[in-house]
Amino acid sequence: MNLIDGKKIAAEIKAEIAEKVKEIKSKGGKTPHLAAVLVGHDGGSETYVAFKIKDCESVGFKSSLHRFEDDVTEAELLAKVHELNNDDDVDGFIVQLPLPGHISEQKVIEAINPKKDVDGFHPVNVGRMVIGLPTFVSATPDGIVELLKRYNIETSGKNCVVIGRSNIVGRPMSILMSQKAMNTTVTVAHSRTKNLKEVCLNADIIIAAIGVPGFVKGDMVKQGAVVIDVGTTRVPSNETKSGFRLKGDVLFDEVAEKCSYITPVPGGVGPMTRVSLLKNTLLAATKQIYA
Ligand code: GUN
Repeated sequence: MNLIDGKKIAAEIKAEIAEKVKEIKSKGGKTPHLAAVLVGHDGGSETYVAFKIKDCESVGFKSSLHRFEDDVTEAELLAKVHELNNDDDVDGFIVQLPLPGHISEQKVIEAINPKKDVDGFHPVNVGRMVIGLPTFVSATPDGIVELLKRYNIETSGKNCVVIGRSNIVGRPMSILMSQKAMNTTVTVAHSRTKNLKEVCLNADIIIAAIGVPGFVKGDMVKQGAVVIDVGTTRVPSNETKSGFRLKGDVLFDEVAEKCSYITPVPGGVGPMTRVSLLKNTLLAATKQIYA
């Protein structure tokens, strides 16, 4: 069994990005700027946004944080989106999800100028991804593709099962894995899938993105399979300072012994997701997707 070290690969890519930023600055270019919009005080969202800001610093980007309380109106939030769309210093921005129930996430996503949509959530960018045009690919699927590539994991002709069909992970992941760069035969499994165990046992690559801790058990995995765990559910723990720890969608101890490769939680997919946002911000700043 080989452990896929997302932390190590992410550090390598971060160093590559930092090098490019240095080069841009040395030529008198503009410092790439990522802005983040955060609504409310959800623990997970606070943590993710804090990491994103820290990541920006570590590669030499500028970052800015735009905070609102839970009772912000949709109109106020949309006004901020328009302001960031029109701010020439901001190369890309994200609105951290989830948003409070009285705000339409879809409306907010669609208000973002696709040229600055470094999350890759705007339908224009999703559509471009689907037909294989240059685009901002959403960070988690992009990070997973990068991990498979950097570990030289053979994907061509393999059976890939993606568990979960969210707009952020499962759906885009399934599309990327079917494209020519990966060449897998993809099955998208979800809550209504029958015989999930049999479906998984047929998989050479399993990508678990359902958000149910320990969902993928040892008896669901074929000997020699590659297992990618996207789960990051917070469960209470008295062994950590924060009072919780992250649990993956894969029952690691049972599954790991069967795998050729497996990602741990934490330290697998998570660091790659963070680095892909930096990658997209650099693409936006250097106008490599849109002129
Ligand atoms: N919430 C969970 N994941 C993400 C993400 O990748 N981007 C944003 N904006 N919100 C999220």
